[in-house]
Amino acid sequence: MHHEPKNSSLSSAAAQNGVLFGTALCTSDLLSQRSTRAILRDCSIITPEFELKWDAVCRSQGNLDYSAADKLIAFASDHALAVHGHTLWWHEAVPPSFDKSSDQQFRDAALDHLTRTVARYDGQLRSWDVVNEPVEPDHGRSDGLRETRFLAAFGPDYIETAFREAALWDPKALLVLNEMGLEYDSPAAERKRRQMLTLLEREKARGTPIACLGLQSHLTALEQPRDHPELRAFLREVRAMGLSVMITEMDVSDHLCPRDRRQRDAIVAETYRTYLDLVLEEAEVLAVSTWGLSDDRTWLNGFRPRTDGAPQRPLLFDRAIRRKPAWHEVRGVLLNARQDGARSSGHRIGTD
Ligand code: G3I
Repeated sequence: MHHEPKNSSLSSAAAQNGVLFGTALCTSDLLSQRSTRAILRDCSIITPEFELKWDAVCRSQGNLDYSAADKLIAFASDHALAVHGHTLWWHEAVPPSFDKSSDQQFRDAALDHLTRTVARYDGQLRSWDVVNEPVEPDHGRSDGLRETRFLAAFGPDYIETAFREAALWDPKALLVLNEMGLEYDSPAAERKRRQMLTLLEREKARGTPIACLGLQSHLTALEQPRDHPELRAFLREVRAMGLSVMITEMDVSDHLCPRDRRQRDAIVAETYRTYLDLVLEEAEVLAVSTWGLSDDRTWLNGFRPRTDGAPQRPLLFDRAIRRKPAWHEVRGVLLNARQDGARSSGHRIGTD
Protein backbone atom coordinates (compact mmCIF):
# COMPACT_ATOMS: atom_id res chain seq x y z
CA MET A 1 0.00 0.00 0.00
CA HIS A 2 1.46 3.35 -0.99
CA HIS A 3 1.29 6.01 1.73
CA GLU A 4 0.09 9.31 0.26
CA PRO A 5 -1.06 12.38 2.13
CA LYS A 6 -4.81 12.09 2.65
CA ASN A 7 -5.57 14.80 0.13
CA SER A 8 -3.21 13.70 -2.62
CA SER A 9 -4.40 14.54 -6.09
CA LEU A 10 -5.72 12.10 -8.66
CA SER A 11 -2.79 12.89 -10.95
CA SER A 12 -0.20 12.16 -8.23
CA ALA A 13 -2.02 8.95 -7.26
CA ALA A 14 -2.06 7.89 -10.92
CA ALA A 15 1.59 8.84 -11.39
CA GLN A 16 2.54 6.23 -8.77
CA ASN A 17 1.91 3.67 -11.53
CA GLY A 18 2.99 5.71 -14.52
CA VAL A 19 -0.63 6.53 -15.43
CA LEU A 20 -1.91 9.97 -16.44
CA PHE A 21 -5.25 11.12 -15.01
CA GLY A 22 -7.32 13.71 -16.82
CA THR A 23 -10.59 15.02 -18.11
CA ALA A 24 -12.33 16.35 -21.19
CA LEU A 25 -12.89 20.09 -21.08
CA CYS A 26 -14.21 22.96 -23.15
CA THR A 27 -12.91 26.53 -23.29
CA SER A 28 -15.97 27.53 -21.22
CA ASP A 29 -14.63 25.44 -18.31
CA LEU A 30 -11.60 27.73 -18.10
CA LEU A 31 -13.87 30.69 -17.30
CA SER A 32 -14.53 29.12 -13.89
CA GLN A 33 -11.77 29.62 -11.31
CA ARG A 34 -12.96 26.61 -9.31
CA SER A 35 -12.98 24.29 -12.34
CA THR A 36 -9.58 25.51 -13.48
CA ARG A 37 -8.12 25.02 -10.00
CA ALA A 38 -9.51 21.49 -9.79
CA ILE A 39 -8.18 20.64 -13.26
CA LEU A 40 -4.71 21.94 -12.40
CA ARG A 41 -4.71 20.11 -9.08
CA ASP A 42 -6.02 16.73 -10.23
CA CYS A 43 -5.17 16.38 -13.91
CA SER A 44 -2.02 15.64 -15.86
CA ILE A 45 -3.74 15.28 -19.26
CA ILE A 46 -6.68 17.06 -20.89
CA THR A 47 -8.91 16.26 -23.88
CA PRO A 48 -10.70 19.01 -25.85
CA GLU A 49 -14.33 17.85 -25.62
CA PHE A 50 -15.38 19.53 -28.84
CA GLU A 51 -12.91 22.13 -30.10
CA LEU A 52 -10.61 19.78 -32.06
CA LYS A 53 -13.37 17.97 -33.95
CA TRP A 54 -13.66 18.43 -37.71
CA ASP A 55 -17.06 20.15 -37.44
CA ALA A 56 -15.71 22.47 -34.73
CA VAL A 57 -12.64 23.50 -36.73
CA CYS A 58 -14.30 23.66 -40.14
CA ARG A 59 -17.52 25.65 -39.84
CA SER A 60 -17.91 25.74 -43.63
CA GLN A 61 -15.76 24.80 -46.60
CA GLY A 62 -12.58 26.83 -46.52
CA ASN A 63 -13.58 28.55 -43.25
CA LEU A 64 -11.21 27.01 -40.70
CA ASP A 65 -11.08 28.16 -37.09
CA TYR A 66 -8.57 26.57 -34.73
CA SER A 67 -8.74 29.41 -32.19
CA ALA A 68 -10.66 27.50 -29.50
CA ALA A 69 -8.41 24.45 -29.89
CA ASP A 70 -5.33 26.69 -29.78
CA LYS A 71 -6.62 28.18 -26.50
CA LEU A 72 -6.92 24.77 -24.86
CA ILE A 73 -3.54 23.62 -26.13
CA ALA A 74 -1.91 26.83 -24.93
CA PHE A 75 -3.54 26.34 -21.50
CA ALA A 76 -2.15 22.80 -21.36
CA SER A 77 1.29 23.93 -22.42
CA ASP A 78 1.31 26.81 -19.88
CA HIS A 79 0.58 24.30 -17.11
CA ALA A 80 2.64 21.32 -18.36
CA LEU A 81 -0.47 19.25 -18.98
CA ALA A 82 -0.41 16.58 -21.69
CA VAL A 83 -3.08 16.82 -24.40
CA HIS A 84 -5.09 13.95 -25.87
CA GLY A 85 -6.36 14.98 -29.32
CA HIS A 86 -10.02 14.10 -29.98
CA THR A 87 -10.84 13.20 -32.77
CA LEU A 88 -9.65 13.30 -36.37
CA TRP A 89 -12.14 11.06 -38.23
CA TRP A 90 -15.55 10.52 -36.58
CA HIS A 91 -18.78 10.03 -38.49
CA GLU A 92 -20.65 12.32 -36.04
CA ALA A 93 -18.25 15.24 -36.53
CA VAL A 94 -18.25 15.65 -40.33
CA PRO A 95 -19.00 19.28 -41.26
CA PRO A 96 -22.52 19.49 -42.75
CA SER A 97 -21.04 21.33 -45.77
CA PHE A 98 -19.73 17.96 -47.03
CA ASP A 99 -23.12 16.25 -46.96
CA LYS A 100 -23.55 16.65 -50.71
CA SER A 101 -19.89 16.21 -51.72
CA SER A 102 -18.73 13.43 -54.04
CA ASP A 103 -16.58 10.59 -52.68
CA GLN A 104 -13.51 12.17 -54.27
CA GLN A 105 -14.26 15.60 -52.75
CA PHE A 106 -14.89 13.96 -49.36
CA ARG A 107 -11.65 11.97 -49.54
CA ASP A 108 -9.66 15.11 -50.38
CA ALA A 109 -11.35 17.12 -47.62
CA ALA A 110 -11.00 14.40 -44.96
CA LEU A 111 -7.30 13.90 -45.75
CA ASP A 112 -6.73 17.65 -45.91
CA HIS A 113 -8.33 18.09 -42.48
CA LEU A 114 -6.34 15.23 -40.94
CA THR A 115 -2.94 16.20 -42.30
CA ARG A 116 -3.43 19.94 -41.65
CA THR A 117 -4.61 19.37 -38.07
CA VAL A 118 -1.97 16.78 -37.14
CA ALA A 119 0.79 18.90 -38.70
CA ARG A 120 -0.47 22.03 -36.89
CA TYR A 121 -0.04 20.39 -33.48
CA ASP A 122 2.94 18.19 -34.38
CA GLY A 123 4.92 17.49 -31.19
CA GLN A 124 2.36 19.25 -28.94
CA LEU A 125 -0.10 16.39 -28.34
CA ARG A 126 0.72 13.22 -26.44
CA SER A 127 -1.88 11.16 -28.29
CA TRP A 128 -4.65 11.30 -30.87
CA ASP A 129 -7.99 9.56 -31.25
CA VAL A 130 -7.25 9.09 -34.95
CA VAL A 131 -10.47 7.18 -35.71
CA ASN A 132 -13.49 7.19 -33.37
CA GLU A 133 -16.18 4.46 -33.19
CA PRO A 134 -15.35 2.41 -36.33
CA VAL A 135 -17.19 -0.80 -35.28
CA GLU A 136 -20.96 -1.33 -35.46
CA PRO A 137 -22.11 -5.01 -35.55
CA ASP A 138 -25.71 -3.95 -36.26
CA HIS A 139 -24.63 -2.74 -39.71
CA GLY A 140 -24.19 -6.40 -40.61
CA ARG A 141 -20.84 -6.24 -42.40
CA SER A 142 -18.62 -9.32 -42.04
CA ASP A 143 -15.77 -7.03 -40.96
CA GLY A 144 -18.04 -5.36 -38.37
CA LEU A 145 -17.24 -1.88 -39.71
CA ARG A 146 -19.76 0.90 -39.18
CA GLU A 147 -21.26 2.22 -42.41
CA THR A 148 -19.92 5.81 -42.47
CA ARG A 149 -18.94 8.44 -45.06
CA PHE A 150 -15.32 7.43 -44.43
CA LEU A 151 -16.05 3.79 -45.26
CA ALA A 152 -18.14 4.74 -48.30
CA ALA A 153 -15.53 7.14 -49.69
CA PHE A 154 -12.28 5.28 -48.89
CA GLY A 155 -13.37 1.67 -48.47
CA PRO A 156 -12.28 -0.52 -45.50
CA ASP A 157 -8.68 0.75 -45.81
CA TYR A 158 -9.72 4.15 -44.37
CA ILE A 159 -8.46 3.17 -40.93
CA GLU A 160 -4.99 2.25 -42.23
CA THR A 161 -4.95 5.43 -44.33
CA ALA A 162 -5.82 7.64 -41.33
CA PHE A 163 -3.22 6.10 -39.02
CA ARG A 164 -0.42 6.12 -41.61
CA GLU A 165 -1.11 9.79 -42.44
CA ALA A 166 -1.22 10.75 -38.76
CA ALA A 167 2.07 8.90 -38.10
CA LEU A 168 3.63 10.76 -41.02
CA TRP A 169 2.69 14.24 -39.73
CA ASP A 170 3.33 13.60 -36.03
CA PRO A 171 5.76 10.69 -35.63
CA LYS A 172 5.77 10.96 -31.83
CA ALA A 173 2.07 11.13 -30.93
CA LEU A 174 0.55 7.92 -29.56
CA LEU A 175 -2.09 6.88 -32.11
CA VAL A 176 -5.32 5.60 -30.60
CA LEU A 177 -8.31 3.74 -32.06
CA ASN A 178 -11.19 4.90 -29.83
CA GLU A 179 -14.42 2.94 -29.36
CA MET A 180 -17.59 2.99 -27.24
CA GLY A 181 -19.55 0.10 -25.75
CA LEU A 182 -16.74 -2.46 -25.50
CA GLU A 183 -17.16 -2.38 -21.71
CA TYR A 184 -20.75 -3.51 -21.46
CA ASP A 185 -22.14 -6.88 -20.35
CA SER A 186 -24.42 -8.02 -23.18
CA PRO A 187 -24.37 -10.33 -26.24
CA ALA A 188 -24.18 -7.21 -28.45
CA ALA A 189 -21.14 -5.91 -26.54
CA GLU A 190 -19.46 -9.31 -26.75
CA ARG A 191 -20.06 -9.34 -30.51
CA LYS A 192 -18.54 -5.86 -30.70
CA ARG A 193 -15.49 -6.97 -28.67
CA ARG A 194 -14.96 -9.95 -31.00
CA GLN A 195 -15.24 -7.72 -34.08
CA MET A 196 -12.86 -5.18 -32.57
CA LEU A 197 -10.28 -7.93 -31.97
CA THR A 198 -10.64 -9.08 -35.59
CA LEU A 199 -10.22 -5.49 -36.75
CA LEU A 200 -7.11 -4.99 -34.61
CA GLU A 201 -5.59 -8.27 -35.85
CA ARG A 202 -6.29 -7.23 -39.46
CA GLU A 203 -4.75 -3.79 -38.99
CA LYS A 204 -1.75 -5.29 -37.19
CA ALA A 205 -1.19 -7.67 -40.13
CA ARG A 206 -1.18 -4.66 -42.50
CA GLY A 207 1.30 -2.74 -40.36
CA THR A 208 -1.20 0.01 -39.43
CA PRO A 209 0.53 2.08 -36.70
CA ILE A 210 -2.08 1.75 -33.94
CA ALA A 211 -0.41 2.05 -30.51
CA CYS A 212 -3.38 2.06 -28.22
CA LEU A 213 -7.04 1.08 -27.90
CA GLY A 214 -9.26 3.82 -26.44
CA LEU A 215 -12.09 2.55 -24.22
CA GLN A 216 -14.60 5.41 -23.97
CA SER A 217 -16.05 3.86 -20.78
CA HIS A 218 -19.45 5.58 -20.69
CA LEU A 219 -20.83 3.27 -17.98
CA THR A 220 -24.27 2.89 -16.42
CA ALA A 221 -24.59 2.31 -12.68
CA LEU A 222 -26.62 -0.82 -11.79
CA GLU A 223 -25.96 -2.17 -15.31
CA GLN A 224 -22.13 -2.42 -15.30
CA PRO A 225 -21.37 -5.79 -13.63
CA ARG A 226 -19.13 -5.96 -10.55
CA ASP A 227 -16.92 -8.52 -12.25
CA HIS A 228 -16.83 -9.10 -16.00
CA PRO A 229 -14.99 -12.21 -17.26
CA GLU A 230 -15.63 -11.41 -20.94
CA LEU A 231 -14.14 -7.92 -20.55
CA ARG A 232 -11.15 -9.39 -18.71
CA ALA A 233 -10.59 -11.91 -21.51
CA PHE A 234 -10.91 -9.15 -24.14
CA LEU A 235 -8.38 -6.92 -22.39
CA ARG A 236 -5.95 -9.82 -22.08
CA GLU A 237 -6.19 -10.43 -25.84
CA VAL A 238 -5.61 -6.71 -26.52
CA ARG A 239 -2.55 -6.80 -24.26
CA ALA A 240 -1.27 -9.97 -25.94
CA MET A 241 -1.31 -8.04 -29.24
CA GLY A 242 1.10 -5.56 -27.70
CA LEU A 243 -1.52 -2.82 -27.51
CA SER A 244 -1.84 -0.45 -24.57
CA VAL A 245 -5.17 1.01 -23.45
CA MET A 246 -6.46 4.46 -22.60
CA ILE A 247 -9.70 5.04 -20.70
CA THR A 248 -10.77 8.06 -22.72
CA GLU A 249 -14.28 9.26 -21.68
CA MET A 250 -15.23 7.63 -18.39
CA ASP A 251 -18.45 8.63 -16.66
CA VAL A 252 -21.16 6.67 -14.82
CA SER A 253 -24.76 7.46 -15.67
CA ASP A 254 -26.99 7.30 -12.57
CA HIS A 255 -30.30 7.28 -14.47
CA LEU A 256 -31.22 3.84 -13.04
CA CYS A 257 -30.31 4.81 -9.45
CA PRO A 258 -32.71 5.94 -6.72
CA ARG A 259 -33.15 9.69 -6.32
CA ASP A 260 -31.49 9.89 -2.89
CA ARG A 261 -28.17 11.72 -3.48
CA ARG A 262 -26.14 9.76 -0.93
CA GLN A 263 -27.32 6.43 -2.35
CA ARG A 264 -26.68 7.53 -5.93
CA ASP A 265 -23.21 8.83 -5.16
CA ALA A 266 -22.32 5.58 -3.37
CA ILE A 267 -23.53 3.38 -6.25
CA VAL A 268 -21.72 5.54 -8.82
CA ALA A 269 -18.52 5.47 -6.74
CA GLU A 270 -18.67 1.66 -6.49
CA THR A 271 -19.13 1.39 -10.26
CA TYR A 272 -16.04 3.51 -10.87
CA ARG A 273 -14.05 1.44 -8.38
CA THR A 274 -14.89 -2.02 -9.73
CA TYR A 275 -14.55 -1.02 -13.39
CA LEU A 276 -11.27 0.82 -12.98
CA ASP A 277 -9.86 -1.94 -10.79
CA LEU A 278 -10.61 -4.52 -13.50
CA VAL A 279 -9.14 -2.53 -16.40
CA LEU A 280 -5.99 -1.54 -14.50
CA GLU A 281 -5.52 -5.18 -13.55
CA GLU A 282 -5.89 -6.60 -17.06
CA ALA A 283 -4.52 -3.91 -19.37
CA GLU A 284 -1.47 -1.76 -19.87
CA VAL A 285 -3.26 1.54 -19.08
CA LEU A 286 -1.52 4.75 -20.14
CA ALA A 287 -4.16 7.28 -19.13
CA VAL A 288 -7.54 7.50 -17.39
CA SER A 289 -9.79 10.41 -18.33
CA THR A 290 -13.33 11.26 -17.31
CA TRP A 291 -15.70 12.95 -19.73
CA GLY A 292 -15.87 16.19 -17.81
CA LEU A 293 -14.68 16.90 -14.29
CA SER A 294 -17.85 17.92 -12.50
CA ASP A 295 -21.58 17.26 -12.64
CA ASP A 296 -22.32 20.85 -13.59
CA ARG A 297 -21.70 20.18 -17.29
CA THR A 298 -22.25 16.56 -18.30
CA TRP A 299 -23.46 15.49 -21.75
CA LEU A 300 -25.56 12.86 -19.92
CA ASN A 301 -28.23 15.36 -18.85
CA GLY A 302 -29.10 15.59 -22.53
CA PHE A 303 -28.35 12.02 -23.54
CA ARG A 304 -29.66 10.11 -20.48
CA PRO A 305 -32.00 12.39 -18.51
CA ARG A 306 -33.31 10.84 -15.28
CA THR A 307 -37.05 10.12 -15.37
CA ASP A 308 -37.45 12.05 -12.10
CA GLY A 309 -35.91 15.11 -13.75
CA ALA A 310 -33.10 15.33 -11.16
CA PRO A 311 -29.77 16.38 -12.72
CA GLN A 312 -27.34 13.50 -13.33
CA ARG A 313 -24.41 13.00 -10.90
CA PRO A 314 -22.03 10.94 -13.10
CA LEU A 315 -18.63 12.48 -12.37
CA LEU A 316 -16.01 12.83 -9.61
CA PHE A 317 -16.88 16.38 -8.52
CA ASP A 318 -20.34 17.77 -7.80
CA ARG A 319 -21.84 20.90 -9.34
CA ALA A 320 -20.01 23.07 -6.78
CA ILE A 321 -16.74 21.36 -7.75
CA ARG A 322 -16.54 19.47 -4.44
CA ARG A 323 -15.07 15.96 -4.37
CA LYS A 324 -17.64 13.14 -4.26
CA PRO A 325 -17.25 9.55 -3.00
CA ALA A 326 -16.32 8.61 -6.58
CA TRP A 327 -13.28 10.91 -6.35
CA HIS A 328 -12.03 8.99 -3.32
CA GLU A 329 -12.73 5.58 -4.86
CA VAL A 330 -10.91 6.48 -8.09
CA ARG A 331 -7.94 7.85 -6.12
CA GLY A 332 -7.76 4.64 -4.10
CA VAL A 333 -7.75 2.45 -7.22
CA LEU A 334 -5.18 4.63 -9.02
CA LEU A 335 -2.94 4.61 -5.96
CA ASN A 336 -3.02 0.85 -5.62
CA ALA A 337 -3.21 -0.19 -9.26
CA ARG A 338 -1.64 -3.63 -9.61
CA GLN A 339 -0.04 -2.85 -12.95
CA ASP A 340 3.06 -4.97 -13.46
CA GLY A 341 5.78 -4.30 -16.02
CA ALA A 342 7.47 -1.06 -16.90
CA ARG A 343 5.24 1.59 -18.49
CA SER A 344 5.81 1.09 -22.18
CA SER A 345 5.96 4.22 -24.30
CA GLY A 346 2.90 2.87 -26.05
CA HIS A 347 4.34 0.31 -28.47
CA ARG A 348 2.73 0.63 -31.91
CA ILE A 349 1.50 -2.62 -33.44
CA GLY A 350 2.46 -3.15 -37.02
CA THR A 351 5.80 -1.45 -36.65
CA ASP A 352 7.72 -4.51 -35.38
O1 G3I B 1 -20.05 25.61 -29.33
C1 G3I B 1 -21.20 25.57 -30.18
C2 G3I B 1 -21.94 26.88 -30.09
O2 G3I B 1 -21.12 27.91 -30.64
C3 G3I B 1 -23.23 26.77 -30.87
O3 G3I B 1 -23.97 27.95 -30.71
C4 G3I B 1 -24.03 25.58 -30.33
C5 G3I B 1 -25.33 25.39 -31.09
O4 G3I B 1 -25.04 24.83 -32.36
O5 G3I B 1 -23.26 24.38 -30.50
C6 G3I B 1 -22.09 24.43 -29.74
O6 G3I B 1 -21.38 23.27 -30.00
C7 G3I B 1 -21.88 22.12 -29.33
C8 G3I B 1 -20.67 21.44 -28.66
O7 G3I B 1 -21.05 20.19 -28.09
C9 G3I B 1 -20.05 22.33 -27.59
O8 G3I B 1 -20.91 22.43 -26.52
C10 G3I B 1 -22.44 21.19 -30.41
O9 G3I B 1 -23.64 21.75 -30.91
C11 G3I B 1 -22.73 19.82 -29.79
O10 G3I B 1 -23.09 18.91 -30.83
C12 G3I B 1 -21.48 19.29 -29.11
O11 G3I B 1 -21.82 18.05 -28.49
C13 G3I B 1 -20.68 17.23 -28.16
C14 G3I B 1 -20.82 15.90 -28.92
O12 G3I B 1 -19.76 15.00 -28.54
C15 G3I B 1 -20.74 16.10 -30.43
O13 G3I B 1 -19.47 16.68 -30.77
C16 G3I B 1 -20.70 16.98 -26.67
O14 G3I B 1 -20.39 18.21 -26.01
C17 G3I B 1 -19.66 15.93 -26.29
O15 G3I B 1 -19.79 15.58 -24.92
C18 G3I B 1 -19.85 14.66 -27.13
O16 G3I B 1 -18.78 13.81 -26.81
C19 G3I B 1 -18.80 12.53 -27.49
C20 G3I B 1 -17.36 12.18 -27.89
O17 G3I B 1 -16.86 13.20 -28.74
C21 G3I B 1 -17.30 10.82 -28.55
N1 G3I B 1 -17.87 9.79 -27.66
C22 G3I B 1 -19.25 10.08 -27.24
C23 G3I B 1 -19.31 11.43 -26.54
C24 G3I B 1 -20.71 11.71 -26.04
O18 G3I B 1 -21.56 11.86 -27.14
